[in-house]
Amino acid sequence: MNETRDHFTSLLSLSDVRHSYNDNLAVKRVSFEVPEHGLSSIVGPSGCGKSTLLRICSGLMTPTAGGVRFGDEPVNGVPVGLAMVLQDYSRSLFPWLRVGGNVEFPIRRLPKAERTSRMHASLEAVGLADKSRHYPWQLSGGMQQRVAIARALAFRPRMLLMDEPFASVDAQTRAELEDLLLTLQRELKITVLVVTHDIDESIYLADRVIVLSPPPSVVTRIVDVDLPSPRDQLRTKADPEFQRIRAKVTQLLKDDAGATGSVATPLHATSSNNLPTSPSADW
Ligand SMILES: Nc1ncnc2c1ncn2[C@@H]1O[C@H](COP(=O)(O)OP(=O)(O)O)[C@@H](O)[C@H]1O
Ligand SMILES: [Mg+2]
Repeated sequence: MNETRDHFTSLLSLSDVRHSYNDNLAVKRVSFEVPEHGLSSIVGPSGCGKSTLLRICSGLMTPTAGGVRFGDEPVNGVPVGLAMVLQDYSRSLFPWLRVGGNVEFPIRRLPKAERTSRMHASLEAVGLADKSRHYPWQLSGGMQQRVAIARALAFRPRMLLMDEPFASVDAQTRAELEDLLLTLQRELKITVLVVTHDIDESIYLADRVIVLSPPPSVVTRIVDVDLPSPRDQLRTKADPEFQRIRAKVTQLLKDDAGATGSVATPLHATSSNNLPTSPSADW
């Protein structure tokens, strides 16, 4: 039984999605909806098919069975209005292009004035207004991931799909990027679906946590997160409700791991001693 609010408009919906890679069944049967203007997270053990599901949501891959809808349309190919941010910024940014060039790359067919204005607005939104002339390799890992987020924003997407977007940066930077994402989501009213294997992050970021089982995955539970917004790394994580939800999600994942006998990659909780950042988003 899912603990979800009943009434919302969904922007993305998966129904009975199943996916096999040859004879390896990665996703058994997954259905969920992503409410418009909300931030949903998917949490589950390593190898349970989270990246597979995001690739299917983005239209980059066709599921073996089942279907995905974005807005009113079935997803066949990458839908307009959907952008994706991956974990590994070092592989997603072009080292030979300056930061500005990277951000403009996906919108290169737009008229120059529009492209430039979007590039500057996006970089400002992620707190990198002064870095457009730098090369990505001149920036820290956290800044490079901000560039990747700015590039997705320049597209003006209705929805952002993020696959473990903060897994490659240190804990302090991770907390800053989490807060940046929350600020952007709130100010731009963008719909976000973020994949993580970090329980704390899945709750801190989201208003809805989709808990997946070990592979081949099914949805174990969808948990609503009713925590006050704007969130704060220290205050929110000290909230008894946060701790209640964390205990619940941890237990669900533990029960699943026990039930299947799988030795999943440990799911961990991050420390909460990090400070938030608030970018100026002139959007
Ligand atoms: N391109 C691929 N070809 C074959 N098998 C794959 C491919 N991508 C993922 N898999 C397999 O599918 C399962 C789920 O992988 P993945 O979606 O990457 O999980 P997660 O992101 O949760 O760690 C794993 O067993 C993985 O080895
Ligand atoms: Mg993955």
